[in-house]
Amino acid sequence: MTDSATTRTEREDFQATTDPALLESADRGDANLLSYQKLYELWERQQWRTQDIDFSQDREDWQNFPDDEKFQRMYGLSSFFIGEQKVAEELGPMMRAAPTEEMRIFLCTQIADEARHVAFFNRFYEEVGVLESTNLQDRLKETSEHLNPKFHDLFDDMLHTRVAKLARDPDDLETLVEAVTLYHMVIEGMLALTGQHFIITYNEENGTLPGFVEGFNNVARDEHRHVAFGARFLREMAKADPKYMEAIQRTLIESGPAADGVLTPPWYEEGMDLFGVSIEETREFAMKALGRRMKVIGLAAPAA
Ligand SMILES: [Fe+2]
Ligand SMILES: [Fe+2]
Repeated sequence: MTDSATTRTEREDFQATTDPALLESADRGDANLLSYQKLYELWERQQWRTQDIDFSQDREDWQNFPDDEKFQRMYGLSSFFIGEQKVAEELGPMMRAAPTEEMRIFLCTQIADEARHVAFFNRFYEEVGVLESTNLQDRLKETSEHLNPKFHDLFDDMLHTRVAKLARDPDDLETLVEAVTLYHMVIEGMLALTGQHFIITYNEENGTLPGFVEGFNNVARDEHRHVAFGARFLREMAKADPKYMEAIQRTLIESGPAADGVLTPPWYEEGMDLFGVSIEETREFAMKALGRRMKVIGLAAPAA
């Protein structure tokens, strides 16, 4: 168990993923990224079970939260729950379009991880009694009313359109580069890991939702491993041909406004704190992580 954000990013198991955002050397553009095979082997060593998590304290905590706190917490929870379910569905065509067997094997492990992340949220909602719905489909529907509309621009428009194209033409490497930029760099790297960082820290500092914190730390560790795959893949592609470098840059610029929207709850008002931090701090954290990863890939990050 860790009790501070700094200790978490320095955890040996997080460091083992070689996600550039966790490595100081990445500020200079250096990172010893694991090979696809080593990332696969790390996945074998980093297994966990959603069924092992005890949510009994979480249930009590949740029932004691005031209604407005419950409502505010629903933004982060809903974005993650639905986000995990959406990305799990998109990975199949991306896996098939990956050009080498080693990449495809790793992406198969990632499909299993994303399914586990959906199961983790579903179990949390069920055990804690967050909603009235009694099955996964209905819970997803019920929780979706909390999302920022920009969420749909990013997932249903930008990502889904590219993945649908890949499903029709798995040899379209440029579209795969765009999809990995959106999926691994923007959605997982900038948005998910930023939300996880602040939500976990807030709960740790307040001593709330211990089962959720335990599982969400495991989710974050998985995400760092996924992002490390994305960084390696994009670095290789960017080196192979400048047109892929341009595709990464173009996709980052195109998705910027939608990504920024997802960091902002629809009820956000100027000057408000979100889980104990300002929106500027949240943005800064997301951009620093993106900047480190882009340096390692060989690109300058677009201005915030
Ligand atoms: Fe995930
Ligand atoms: Fe992921």
